[in-house]
Amino acid sequence: MGTESTEAAIEALLDEQRTFPPPDEFASRAIVADDSVYRRAEEDPEGFWRGLADEFLDWLTEPTKGLEWDPPHCTWFADGELNVAANCLDRHVEAGRGDRVAYHWVGEPESESADLTYGEMLREVSRLANALRTLGVSKGDRVGIYMGMVPELPIAMLACARIGAPHVVVFGGFSSESLAERLRDSGARLLITQDEGWRKGGKVPLKVNADAAADAAPTVERLVVFRRTGDEVPWNDDRDVWWHDAVAGEPDECEPERMGAEDTLYLLHTSGTTAKPKGVQHTSAGYLLHAAVTHKWIFDIHDDTIWWCAADVGWVTGHSYIVYGPLCNGTTSVLYEGDPAYPDWDRHWEIVERYQVNSYYTAPTLIRSFVKMGEDYPARHDLSSLRLLGTVGEPINPEAWVWYWKVIGGERCPVVDTWWQTETGGILITPLPGLTTLKPGSATVPFPGIKPAILDEQGNPVPQGQGGFLTVKHPWPGMFRTLWEDDERYVSNYFSKYGPETYFTGDGAKQDSDGYYWLMGRIDDVINVAGHRLSTTEIESTLVEHEAVAEAAATGAADPERGQRIVCFVLLKGGYEPSDELAEELRQFVAAKIGKIARPAAVLFGDDLPKTRSGKIMRRLLKDIAEGHELGDTTTLRDAAVVDDLKQKADVALGRAG
Ligand code: PRX
Repeated sequence: MGTESTEAAIEALLDEQRTFPPPDEFASRAIVADDSVYRRAEEDPEGFWRGLADEFLDWLTEPTKGLEWDPPHCTWFADGELNVAANCLDRHVEAGRGDRVAYHWVGEPESESADLTYGEMLREVSRLANALRTLGVSKGDRVGIYMGMVPELPIAMLACARIGAPHVVVFGGFSSESLAERLRDSGARLLITQDEGWRKGGKVPLKVNADAAADAAPTVERLVVFRRTGDEVPWNDDRDVWWHDAVAGEPDECEPERMGAEDTLYLLHTSGTTAKPKGVQHTSAGYLLHAAVTHKWIFDIHDDTIWWCAADVGWVTGHSYIVYGPLCNGTTSVLYEGDPAYPDWDRHWEIVERYQVNSYYTAPTLIRSFVKMGEDYPARHDLSSLRLLGTVGEPINPEAWVWYWKVIGGERCPVVDTWWQTETGGILITPLPGLTTLKPGSATVPFPGIKPAILDEQGNPVPQGQGGFLTVKHPWPGMFRTLWEDDERYVSNYFSKYGPETYFTGDGAKQDSDGYYWLMGRIDDVINVAGHRLSTTEIESTLVEHEAVAEAAATGAADPERGQRIVCFVLLKGGYEPSDELAEELRQFVAAKIGKIARPAAVLFGDDLPKTRSGKIMRRLLKDIAEGHELGDTTTLRDAAVVDDLKQKADVALGRAG
């Protein structure tokens, strides 16, 4: 399994000798300072989570049930009732904390910022929830949300949660086609969007994209449009309503819907191994509990902690650690609208200094960009408020880890490398910063109550130090319950390889002699670009939609900054000639169809693709070609000359020739 380069990288990682025990000052006031949590959870995972469900959540009906497991399906706290928005807002306000800031919002244009308290959030959420009801949305209806990073995005999510309408957030960088597909899949009745968003000093035409998507998604009856930039946008009086008009006259109180613990809180689409994105389905109680507990324990969230998860709310990281976890815990967060390099590469550090951020969480790809830009940018600001740093989304290379620890963390902040997925709802493998000795490049150990196993092809545990498939052997509360209206795919994708009791993650991993986990990346046809999951099949089917393309194959090649980059191999139809212009056109074509994150780094034209005699594309070879490695065994190829030709072209296109 894995390519030779991954193997080599992991060998290097395992040789990594440096260890970082929790600094005394940190450990002495850490939220979790007693390692008995691991034993308690190990002995009785169900009892462990039940206790936390009492401690972290406010119930309308206390559950009598804990885990009910009918593999591969499970429920948690199934007879309990609660409302997620009430857990995130009302109870903090009722406890007298209404004046606490929920979000320090920072706009991308430098002059813009606003503080929103828990009291204000509750009023805005209630007004929008009432407006949604007035517009005909009721419990169980799906609502699409396609916005930038404005406070109205979490407000929209919580308004949906308040009335029991599962939200379907689509990242604002996705194209109208990607949006339409997700709206169709979920059968959304209403779409909440905004006129335009800010990105890198430019404007993103969200309403224009939303219009095109709504045209292509017949279930969408209404658009609610938040005014952000104020520019004029196309308008359809029959379908569109301004947010401010919709909430005008609505009362600022709204009775929260009584929700069953297992009622769906949201759907979030993620890429799998086929072209169709998967609608990952999360519940109300189990999900919220997992998000809240992991947020508090892993990021060491005290009452006065200022927290910043610098992800986009459009991804699961933002759902769990910008919206649900922090709000459930009553935390004060930073919410930043724009690009980390706008207007310059010190924007994040300026914000850390301004709001005295204590815990900061981002992706390795961004850390590698910071490394590249140099130490002068962080040096412009006082970062002494920071106590903890975190990473997520892809393996972090030890050099970047150590740089982060040293330059950003001033050698005093634990760096928590957290492994999880859209499907897992919250973090599963991670240090607890007051307890765990860190090793740069390792996500360290399972969170209490989580039981991973690394298996070989036959399902046997692999010996220590050897790579295998990462699985999880026991359900946890935040686990997704199924894929939207496609339980068959849920079973076949995640529970067919090792049977219904073993969740198959799609990642490779190794354990070292201390039992630490080292993640090795995806072992399926999923590419991870800058921490975002993309399906090779989705990119390939997009390419063949272009009139010039007969056949296409996409692969992920290692990239020092972005983790992986997309390299595509294309066979043209008769009558079309390879050219730089056509390659560029195809790159733009993919970006327009899926979103800019899917734009290939290179498109290479070949006379054929490397196929076996039975016609199966040899993906391992494509990856080797894209990464410029010596090619492995080519004897099973139908035509070995094909790869030499492609290799030459790849070396030229990717600047390795000569
Ligand atoms: O391959 C793993 C990688 O990201 C995948 C999950 O992607 P997604 O569902 O988009 O969620 C990203 C944010 C949770 C995983 O299958 N991944 C995530 N975190 C890590 C990681 N790889 C290595 N180390 C991590 N800390």
